[in-house]
Amino acid sequence: MGDVLAAIIRWLHIASVATLIGGMLYASVVMMGAAGALAPDAAAALSEKSAARFRPLVWLAMAALVVSGAYNLISSPGHSSRYLVLLGIKLLLVMHVFAAAILATRPRNPRRTRQMIGAFLSGLVIILISAYLRRIF
Ligand code: HEM
Repeated sequence: MGDVLAAIIRWLHIASVATLIGGMLYASVVMMGAAGALAPDAAAALSEKSAARFRPLVWLAMAALVVSGAYNLISSPGHSSRYLVLLGIKLLLVMHVFAAAILATRPRNPRRTRQMIGAFLSGLVIILISAYLRRIF
């Protein structure tokens, strides 16, 4: 039973990362890049509508990350100082991703694309740190 719960929590953490960070990449680079072919009004409307639809997914992914991340922390106590330092850096970057994602999906935001690119880049660094954290104790 413990193995099943651990697998479900791991799935939740990874699926939420894919939704949040993948969504940032798609919206900023792919969708807004392609929206350059539209009239400025149409591009702005596309940006507003898609941000409004992405916003609930962003909140859901963030809530799932906090719950599954807290489970990860509680279920494996006692780590080296190297692990804890890297975890601290990860959590600072997580705060940047969360703040940028909340701001980027607010309405009438002219800095949306830049904020999404920032969240995506921090997300990439977090994924690298997390991959290393799995290898050390
Ligand atoms: C409050 C937020 C978060 C907490 C407390 C948290 C905590 C953790 C912990 C403790 C682990 C296990 C590391 C180990 O194996 O020792 C982990 C794994 C991981 N985290 Fe997070 N995390 C959070 C948010 C995020 C975010 C925002 C991302 C990505 C942008 C992320 C990406 C990952 C990845 C890719 C793994 C490895 C998953 C696996 O291979 O099972 N985490 N997280």
